[in-house]
Amino acid sequence: MTRTVLRGRTLTFRRAPERIDDHSAYAFEDDGALVVEAGRIVAAGAFSTVARLPGDAVIDHRPHLILPGFIDAHAHFPQMQVIGSFGAELLVWLNTYTFPAETRFADERHAARIASAFLDEMVRQGTTTSAVYCTVHPQSADALFAEAARRGMAMIAGKVMMDRNAPPALTDDAQRGHDETKALIGRWHGKGRRRYAITPRFAITSTPAQMEAAGALAREFPDCHVQTHLSENDAEIALTNSLYPDCGDYTGIYERYGLTGPKSLFGHCIHLSEREADALSDSGSVAVFCPTSNLFLGSGLFDYQRYRRRAKPLRMAIATDVGGGTNYSLLRTLDEGYKAIAAHGEKLDPMRGFWQATRGNAEALGMANEIGSLDPGRFADLVVLDARATPAMRLRMETVTTLAEELFLLQTLGDDRAVVETYVAGRPAKAALAA
Ligand code: GUN
Ligand code: ZN
Repeated sequence: MTRTVLRGRTLTFRRAPERIDDHSAYAFEDDGALVVEAGRIVAAGAFSTVARLPGDAVIDHRPHLILPGFIDAHAHFPQMQVIGSFGAELLVWLNTYTFPAETRFADERHAARIASAFLDEMVRQGTTTSAVYCTVHPQSADALFAEAARRGMAMIAGKVMMDRNAPPALTDDAQRGHDETKALIGRWHGKGRRRYAITPRFAITSTPAQMEAAGALAREFPDCHVQTHLSENDAEIALTNSLYPDCGDYTGIYERYGLTGPKSLFGHCIHLSEREADALSDSGSVAVFCPTSNLFLGSGLFDYQRYRRRAKPLRMAIATDVGGGTNYSLLRTLDEGYKAIAAHGEKLDPMRGFWQATRGNAEALGMANEIGSLDPGRFADLVVLDARATPAMRLRMETVTTLAEELFLLQTLGDDRAVVETYVAGRPAKAALAA
Protein backbone atom coordinates (compact mmCIF):
# COMPACT_ATOMS: atom_id res chain seq x y z
CA MET A 1 0.00 0.00 0.00
CA THR A 2 1.28 3.49 -0.84
CA ARG A 3 2.35 5.49 2.12
CA THR A 4 2.26 9.25 2.29
CA VAL A 5 4.94 11.29 4.00
CA LEU A 6 3.75 14.70 5.13
CA ARG A 7 6.65 17.06 5.58
CA GLY A 8 6.31 20.31 7.52
CA ARG A 9 6.80 21.99 10.86
CA THR A 10 5.13 19.43 13.12
CA LEU A 11 3.76 20.26 16.55
CA THR A 12 2.13 17.86 18.98
CA PHE A 13 1.50 18.00 22.71
CA ARG A 14 2.57 15.33 25.21
CA ARG A 15 0.65 16.80 28.12
CA ALA A 16 -0.97 20.06 29.26
CA PRO A 17 1.61 22.88 29.29
CA GLU A 18 1.81 24.56 32.68
CA ARG A 19 3.37 27.76 31.34
CA ILE A 20 4.25 29.34 28.01
CA ASP A 21 7.86 28.09 28.40
CA ASP A 22 6.93 24.55 29.43
CA HIS A 23 8.86 23.12 26.48
CA SER A 24 8.82 19.50 27.57
CA ALA A 25 5.02 19.50 27.22
CA TYR A 26 5.25 19.38 23.43
CA ALA A 27 7.31 18.05 20.54
CA PHE A 28 8.14 20.43 17.71
CA GLU A 29 10.13 19.58 14.59
CA ASP A 30 11.12 22.48 12.39
CA ASP A 31 11.57 19.99 9.53
CA GLY A 32 9.31 17.17 10.60
CA ALA A 33 7.64 14.23 8.91
CA LEU A 34 4.56 12.13 9.47
CA VAL A 35 4.33 8.81 7.70
CA VAL A 36 0.70 7.98 6.97
CA GLU A 37 -0.56 4.55 6.02
CA ALA A 38 -4.15 3.29 5.86
CA GLY A 39 -5.41 6.50 7.44
CA ARG A 40 -3.12 6.41 10.45
CA ILE A 41 0.19 7.91 11.49
CA VAL A 42 2.73 5.08 11.51
CA ALA A 43 5.87 7.13 12.19
CA ALA A 44 6.68 10.69 13.23
CA GLY A 45 9.83 12.68 13.86
CA ALA A 46 12.49 14.72 12.09
CA PHE A 47 12.31 14.35 8.30
CA SER A 48 15.96 13.36 8.24
CA THR A 49 15.48 10.47 10.65
CA VAL A 50 12.05 9.05 9.81
CA ALA A 51 12.49 5.87 7.78
CA ARG A 52 11.12 6.27 4.27
CA LEU A 53 10.46 3.66 1.61
CA PRO A 54 11.18 4.02 -2.13
CA GLY A 55 7.48 4.24 -3.11
CA ASP A 56 6.48 6.84 -0.49
CA ALA A 57 4.74 9.94 -1.83
CA VAL A 58 6.07 13.05 -0.10
CA ILE A 59 3.85 16.11 0.33
CA ASP A 60 5.89 19.08 1.41
CA HIS A 61 3.94 21.56 3.53
CA ARG A 62 6.95 23.58 4.66
CA PRO A 63 7.01 26.28 5.97
CA HIS A 64 3.55 25.59 7.33
CA LEU A 65 2.75 24.00 10.66
CA ILE A 66 1.20 20.55 10.84
CA LEU A 67 -0.88 19.92 13.98
CA PRO A 68 -3.46 17.36 15.02
CA GLY A 69 -6.86 18.43 13.64
CA PHE A 70 -8.88 20.70 15.89
CA ILE A 71 -11.57 19.13 18.04
CA ASP A 72 -14.83 20.91 18.83
CA ALA A 73 -16.39 19.61 22.04
CA HIS A 74 -19.87 21.16 21.62
CA ALA A 75 -21.76 22.34 18.52
CA HIS A 76 -25.32 22.29 17.17
CA PHE A 77 -25.35 21.40 13.49
CA PRO A 78 -29.04 22.35 13.05
CA GLN A 79 -28.18 25.93 14.04
CA MET A 80 -26.25 26.86 10.90
CA GLN A 81 -29.08 29.18 9.91
CA VAL A 82 -29.44 30.53 13.46
CA ILE A 83 -25.87 31.80 13.86
CA GLY A 84 -25.81 35.60 14.14
CA SER A 85 -29.44 36.03 15.26
CA PHE A 86 -29.77 39.46 16.85
CA GLY A 87 -30.66 40.72 20.23
CA ALA A 88 -31.68 37.99 22.67
CA GLU A 89 -30.42 36.15 25.72
CA LEU A 90 -30.51 32.37 25.94
CA LEU A 91 -34.15 31.48 26.65
CA VAL A 92 -35.61 34.11 24.30
CA TRP A 93 -33.00 33.22 21.66
CA LEU A 94 -34.02 29.54 21.88
CA ASN A 95 -37.72 30.29 21.54
CA THR A 96 -37.41 33.02 18.92
CA TYR A 97 -34.76 31.65 16.58
CA THR A 98 -33.49 28.22 17.50
CA PHE A 99 -36.62 26.15 18.00
CA PRO A 100 -38.26 27.39 14.76
CA ALA A 101 -35.07 26.55 12.82
CA GLU A 102 -34.89 23.10 14.40
CA THR A 103 -38.46 22.19 13.38
CA ARG A 104 -37.28 22.08 9.75
CA PHE A 105 -35.19 18.99 10.50
CA ALA A 106 -38.26 16.79 10.35
CA ASP A 107 -37.51 16.97 6.63
CA GLU A 108 -34.79 14.43 5.83
CA ARG A 109 -33.61 16.36 2.78
CA HIS A 110 -33.11 19.51 4.81
CA ALA A 111 -31.26 17.52 7.48
CA ALA A 112 -28.99 15.93 4.86
CA ARG A 113 -28.25 19.27 3.20
CA ILE A 114 -27.30 20.98 6.46
CA ALA A 115 -25.31 17.97 7.72
CA SER A 116 -23.22 18.11 4.57
CA ALA A 117 -22.76 21.89 4.85
CA PHE A 118 -21.77 21.53 8.51
CA LEU A 119 -19.07 18.95 7.85
CA ASP A 120 -17.81 21.02 4.90
CA GLU A 121 -17.47 23.96 7.24
CA MET A 122 -15.65 21.92 9.86
CA VAL A 123 -13.15 20.78 7.26
CA ARG A 124 -12.75 24.34 5.95
CA GLN A 125 -11.80 25.39 9.50
CA GLY A 126 -9.43 22.52 10.27
CA THR A 127 -11.78 20.74 12.67
CA THR A 128 -11.77 16.97 12.31
CA THR A 129 -13.95 15.81 15.23
CA SER A 130 -16.94 17.42 16.90
CA ALA A 131 -19.45 16.56 19.63
CA VAL A 132 -22.69 17.49 17.96
CA TYR A 133 -26.26 18.10 19.05
CA CYS A 134 -28.85 17.12 16.47
CA THR A 135 -32.57 17.97 16.74
CA VAL A 136 -35.27 15.89 18.38
CA HIS A 137 -35.84 14.12 15.05
CA PRO A 138 -33.93 10.83 14.78
CA GLN A 139 -33.52 11.52 11.07
CA SER A 140 -31.35 14.55 11.92
CA ALA A 141 -28.89 12.26 13.72
CA ASP A 142 -29.07 9.72 10.90
CA ALA A 143 -28.22 12.51 8.45
CA LEU A 144 -25.20 13.69 10.40
CA PHE A 145 -23.83 10.21 11.07
CA ALA A 146 -24.36 9.10 7.47
CA GLU A 147 -22.49 12.11 6.12
CA ALA A 148 -19.68 11.66 8.68
CA ALA A 149 -19.41 7.98 7.71
CA ARG A 150 -19.19 8.90 4.03
CA ARG A 151 -16.25 11.18 4.87
CA GLY A 152 -14.56 8.83 7.36
CA MET A 153 -14.82 11.42 10.16
CA ALA A 154 -14.75 10.67 13.88
CA MET A 155 -17.94 12.23 15.16
CA ILE A 156 -19.86 12.16 18.42
CA ALA A 157 -23.53 13.05 18.07
CA GLY A 158 -26.98 12.50 19.47
CA LYS A 159 -30.58 13.45 18.90
CA VAL A 160 -31.76 15.83 21.61
CA MET A 161 -34.29 14.41 24.02
CA MET A 162 -36.84 17.09 24.90
CA ASP A 163 -40.38 16.49 26.14
CA ARG A 164 -41.51 19.87 27.48
CA ASN A 165 -41.09 23.64 27.25
CA ALA A 166 -40.66 23.52 23.47
CA PRO A 167 -43.05 23.64 20.50
CA PRO A 168 -45.06 20.39 20.04
CA ALA A 169 -43.26 19.77 16.74
CA LEU A 170 -39.99 19.56 18.70
CA THR A 171 -40.98 17.30 21.55
CA ASP A 172 -40.76 13.56 22.00
CA ASP A 173 -41.89 11.92 25.23
CA ALA A 174 -39.95 9.97 27.82
CA GLN A 175 -40.59 6.59 26.21
CA ARG A 176 -40.19 7.71 22.63
CA GLY A 177 -37.02 9.70 23.40
CA HIS A 178 -35.61 6.60 25.08
CA ASP A 179 -36.57 4.23 22.30
CA GLU A 180 -35.38 6.50 19.49
CA THR A 181 -32.08 7.07 21.29
CA LYS A 182 -31.61 3.35 21.83
CA ALA A 183 -32.31 2.63 18.17
CA LEU A 184 -29.81 5.31 17.09
CA ILE A 185 -27.17 3.85 19.43
CA GLY A 186 -27.73 0.49 17.75
CA ARG A 187 -27.43 2.01 14.29
CA TRP A 188 -24.39 4.23 14.83
CA HIS A 189 -22.47 3.83 18.08
CA GLY A 190 -19.09 2.22 17.53
CA LYS A 191 -19.75 1.82 13.82
CA GLY A 192 -16.46 2.91 12.26
CA ARG A 193 -15.49 6.24 13.82
CA ARG A 194 -18.98 7.24 14.93
CA ARG A 195 -19.99 7.45 18.59
CA TYR A 196 -23.27 8.23 20.23
CA ALA A 197 -23.92 10.87 22.88
CA ILE A 198 -27.09 10.50 24.94
CA THR A 199 -28.38 14.06 24.70
CA PRO A 200 -31.07 15.32 27.08
CA ARG A 201 -30.95 18.92 25.81
CA PHE A 202 -31.09 20.47 29.29
CA ALA A 203 -33.19 20.07 32.40
CA ILE A 204 -35.69 22.73 31.31
CA THR A 205 -36.79 20.74 28.26
CA SER A 206 -36.85 17.34 29.96
CA THR A 207 -39.43 16.12 32.49
CA PRO A 208 -38.18 14.09 35.44
CA ALA A 209 -39.48 11.01 33.59
CA GLN A 210 -37.28 11.83 30.62
CA MET A 211 -34.28 12.47 32.85
CA GLU A 212 -34.89 9.01 34.36
CA ALA A 213 -34.94 7.56 30.86
CA ALA A 214 -31.70 9.34 29.94
CA GLY A 215 -30.07 8.03 33.12
CA ALA A 216 -31.25 4.49 32.31
CA LEU A 217 -29.66 4.77 28.86
CA ALA A 218 -26.41 6.05 30.38
CA ARG A 219 -26.35 3.00 32.67
CA GLU A 220 -27.22 0.60 29.86
CA PHE A 221 -24.65 2.11 27.47
CA PRO A 222 -21.73 3.26 29.68
CA ASP A 223 -19.54 3.52 26.61
CA CYS A 224 -21.70 6.31 25.15
CA HIS A 225 -21.12 9.94 25.97
CA VAL A 226 -23.72 12.09 27.69
CA GLN A 227 -24.00 15.71 26.61
CA THR A 228 -26.19 18.49 27.95
CA HIS A 229 -26.16 22.13 29.06
CA LEU A 230 -25.49 23.38 32.59
CA SER A 231 -25.43 26.75 34.32
CA GLU A 232 -25.37 29.02 31.30
CA ASN A 233 -27.35 32.10 32.32
CA ASP A 234 -29.20 33.53 35.29
CA ALA A 235 -32.75 33.19 33.93
CA GLU A 236 -32.06 29.62 32.82
CA ILE A 237 -30.67 28.68 36.24
CA ALA A 238 -33.66 30.22 38.07
CA LEU A 239 -36.18 28.43 35.82
CA THR A 240 -34.30 25.14 36.11
CA ASN A 241 -34.18 25.26 39.89
CA SER A 242 -37.90 26.06 40.02
CA LEU A 243 -38.63 22.97 37.89
CA TYR A 244 -36.52 20.69 40.11
CA PRO A 245 -36.96 22.19 43.59
CA ASP A 246 -35.77 19.03 45.38
CA CYS A 247 -32.37 18.69 43.73
CA GLY A 248 -30.52 21.41 45.62
CA ASP A 249 -28.90 23.02 42.62
CA TYR A 250 -28.62 22.69 38.83
CA THR A 251 -25.75 20.18 38.90
CA GLY A 252 -27.64 18.21 41.53
CA ILE A 253 -30.35 17.51 38.94
CA TYR A 254 -27.94 15.72 36.64
CA GLU A 255 -26.42 13.90 39.62
CA ARG A 256 -29.87 12.79 40.76
CA TYR A 257 -30.51 11.07 37.44
CA GLY A 258 -27.06 9.49 37.07
CA LEU A 259 -25.95 11.80 34.29
CA THR A 260 -22.62 12.99 35.71
CA GLY A 261 -19.42 11.03 35.07
CA PRO A 262 -16.27 10.83 32.97
CA LYS A 263 -18.21 10.49 29.70
CA SER A 264 -20.44 13.49 30.49
CA LEU A 265 -19.92 16.78 28.67
CA PHE A 266 -21.58 19.81 30.24
CA GLY A 267 -21.82 22.84 27.99
CA HIS A 268 -21.12 26.25 29.59
CA CYS A 269 -20.80 25.71 33.40
CA ILE A 270 -20.36 29.46 33.85
CA HIS A 271 -22.08 30.14 37.17
CA LEU A 272 -21.25 27.01 39.18
CA SER A 273 -21.14 27.16 42.97
CA GLU A 274 -18.14 25.59 44.70
CA ARG A 275 -20.34 22.62 45.58
CA GLU A 276 -21.28 22.13 41.95
CA ALA A 277 -17.70 22.45 40.76
CA ASP A 278 -16.65 19.88 43.39
CA ALA A 279 -19.40 17.54 42.22
CA LEU A 280 -18.27 17.82 38.60
CA SER A 281 -14.65 17.29 39.61
CA ASP A 282 -15.42 14.33 41.87
CA SER A 283 -17.40 12.62 39.13
CA GLY A 284 -14.79 13.31 36.43
CA SER A 285 -17.35 15.23 34.37
CA VAL A 286 -16.18 17.70 31.72
CA ALA A 287 -17.03 21.42 31.75
CA VAL A 288 -17.12 22.74 28.19
CA PHE A 289 -15.97 26.34 27.65
CA CYS A 290 -17.88 28.00 24.78
CA PRO A 291 -16.45 31.53 24.63
CA THR A 292 -18.00 32.97 21.47
CA SER A 293 -21.42 31.78 22.57
CA ASN A 294 -21.04 33.02 26.12
CA LEU A 295 -20.04 36.47 24.89
CA PHE A 296 -22.61 36.63 22.06
CA LEU A 297 -25.57 35.62 24.23
CA GLY A 298 -24.25 37.67 27.16
CA SER A 299 -24.32 34.57 29.34
CA GLY A 300 -21.21 35.35 31.39
CA LEU A 301 -17.49 34.65 31.59
CA PHE A 302 -16.28 31.07 32.14
CA ASP A 303 -13.46 31.15 34.68
CA TYR A 304 -11.04 28.70 33.06
CA GLN A 305 -8.09 29.49 35.30
CA ARG A 306 -10.11 29.22 38.52
CA TYR A 307 -11.48 25.84 37.44
CA ARG A 308 -7.99 24.72 36.51
CA ARG A 309 -6.29 25.82 39.71
CA ARG A 310 -8.92 24.96 42.33
CA ALA A 311 -8.13 22.21 44.88
CA LYS A 312 -10.41 19.92 42.89
CA PRO A 313 -9.68 20.95 39.30
CA LEU A 314 -12.27 20.47 36.58
CA ARG A 315 -11.72 18.47 33.45
CA MET A 316 -12.35 21.00 30.69
CA ALA A 317 -12.82 21.24 26.96
CA ILE A 318 -13.25 24.15 24.54
CA ALA A 319 -15.94 24.44 21.90
CA THR A 320 -17.65 26.67 19.36
CA ASP A 321 -21.27 26.05 20.43
CA VAL A 322 -22.41 27.04 16.95
CA GLY A 323 -25.00 28.62 16.53
CA GLY A 324 -25.13 30.39 19.93
CA GLY A 325 -21.43 30.54 19.17
CA THR A 326 -20.55 32.86 16.34
CA ASN A 327 -17.75 31.07 14.57
CA TYR A 328 -16.93 27.57 13.35
CA SER A 329 -13.21 28.17 13.77
CA LEU A 330 -11.28 26.89 16.79
CA LEU A 331 -8.73 29.65 16.07
CA ARG A 332 -11.43 32.28 16.48
CA THR A 333 -12.71 30.40 19.52
CA LEU A 334 -9.27 30.45 21.18
CA ASP A 335 -9.07 34.19 20.49
CA GLU A 336 -12.41 34.86 22.17
CA GLY A 337 -11.50 32.44 24.96
CA TYR A 338 -8.36 34.43 25.60
CA LYS A 339 -10.43 37.62 25.89
CA ALA A 340 -13.02 36.06 28.20
CA ILE A 341 -10.24 34.82 30.47
CA ALA A 342 -8.49 38.22 30.27
CA ALA A 343 -11.67 39.81 31.61
CA HIS A 344 -11.01 37.80 34.79
CA GLY A 345 -7.52 39.36 34.92
CA GLU A 346 -5.93 36.08 33.79
CA LYS A 347 -4.14 34.93 30.62
CA LEU A 348 -4.50 31.74 28.60
CA ASP A 349 -1.11 31.18 27.01
CA PRO A 350 -1.10 29.93 23.41
CA MET A 351 0.67 26.67 24.20
CA ARG A 352 -2.10 25.78 26.65
CA GLY A 353 -4.72 27.03 24.17
CA PHE A 354 -3.49 24.88 21.28
CA TRP A 355 -3.08 21.92 23.63
CA GLN A 356 -6.68 22.42 24.72
CA ALA A 357 -8.02 22.56 21.15
CA THR A 358 -6.16 19.36 20.20
CA ARG A 359 -4.94 16.84 22.75
CA GLY A 360 -6.77 18.48 25.66
CA ASN A 361 -10.12 18.11 23.95
CA ALA A 362 -9.24 14.57 22.85
CA GLU A 363 -8.55 13.70 26.51
CA ALA A 364 -11.76 15.40 27.62
CA LEU A 365 -13.68 13.27 25.10
CA GLY A 366 -11.79 10.14 26.18
CA MET A 367 -10.41 9.75 22.65
CA ALA A 368 -6.72 10.52 23.09
CA ASN A 369 -5.75 7.04 21.93
CA GLU A 370 -7.32 7.85 18.54
CA ILE A 371 -7.01 11.58 17.89
CA GLY A 372 -5.52 14.81 19.22
CA SER A 373 -1.81 14.11 18.79
CA LEU A 374 0.72 13.09 16.13
CA ASP A 375 1.78 9.95 17.96
CA PRO A 376 2.11 6.80 15.85
CA GLY A 377 -1.12 4.81 15.93
CA ARG A 378 -3.35 7.90 15.90
CA PHE A 379 -5.58 8.64 12.94
CA ALA A 380 -4.01 11.10 10.51
CA ASP A 381 -6.60 13.78 11.28
CA LEU A 382 -4.52 16.90 10.77
CA VAL A 383 -4.60 20.63 10.18
CA VAL A 384 -1.96 22.50 8.20
CA LEU A 385 -1.67 26.13 9.28
CA ASP A 386 -0.12 29.15 7.55
CA ALA A 387 0.64 32.05 9.88
CA ARG A 388 1.28 34.29 6.82
CA ALA A 389 -2.13 33.64 5.25
CA THR A 390 -3.20 37.28 4.93
CA PRO A 391 -1.31 40.53 4.31
CA ALA A 392 -1.86 41.60 7.92
CA MET A 393 -0.61 38.25 9.23
CA ARG A 394 2.40 38.36 6.92
CA LEU A 395 3.32 41.80 8.18
CA ARG A 396 2.94 40.80 11.81
CA MET A 397 4.96 37.64 11.22
CA GLU A 398 7.97 39.81 10.32
CA THR A 399 8.35 40.51 14.05
CA VAL A 400 7.62 37.01 15.34
CA THR A 401 10.56 35.01 16.65
CA THR A 402 9.12 32.13 18.70
CA LEU A 403 6.69 29.27 18.15
CA ALA A 404 4.46 30.56 20.96
CA GLU A 405 4.27 33.97 19.25
CA GLU A 406 3.39 32.32 15.95
CA LEU A 407 0.59 30.32 17.56
CA PHE A 408 -0.71 33.41 19.31
CA LEU A 409 -0.73 35.29 16.01
CA LEU A 410 -2.60 32.40 14.38
CA GLN A 411 -5.31 32.51 17.05
CA THR A 412 -5.51 36.29 17.14
CA LEU A 413 -5.64 37.03 13.41
CA GLY A 414 -6.28 33.60 11.90
CA ASP A 415 -9.41 31.97 10.53
CA ASP A 416 -10.18 29.54 7.71
CA ARG A 417 -7.75 31.43 5.45
CA ALA A 418 -4.93 30.19 7.65
CA VAL A 419 -6.04 26.57 7.17
CA VAL A 420 -4.03 25.38 4.18
CA GLU A 421 -5.30 21.81 4.37
CA THR A 422 -7.30 19.52 6.61
CA TYR A 423 -6.56 15.81 6.52
CA VAL A 424 -9.22 13.32 7.55
CA ALA A 425 -7.72 9.87 8.10
CA GLY A 426 -4.84 10.84 5.84
CA ARG A 427 -7.04 12.20 3.05
CA PRO A 428 -6.73 15.87 2.04
CA ALA A 429 -10.32 16.89 2.70
CA LYS A 430 -10.15 20.65 2.25
CA ALA A 431 -8.70 20.41 -1.26
CA ALA A 432 -11.52 17.98 -2.04
CA LEU A 433 -14.09 20.64 -1.05
CA ALA A 434 -12.86 23.10 -3.62
CA ALA A 435 -12.88 20.47 -6.38
N1 GUN B 1 -29.33 25.37 26.22
C1 GUN B 1 -30.27 24.52 25.74
N2 GUN B 1 -30.22 24.46 24.40
C2 GUN B 1 -29.23 25.28 24.03
C3 GUN B 1 -28.70 25.65 22.76
O1 GUN B 1 -29.13 25.20 21.70
N3 GUN B 1 -27.68 26.54 22.78
C4 GUN B 1 -27.18 27.06 23.93
N4 GUN B 1 -26.18 27.93 23.87
N5 GUN B 1 -27.68 26.75 25.13
C5 GUN B 1 -28.69 25.87 25.17
ZN1 ZN C 1 -25.14 24.20 23.12
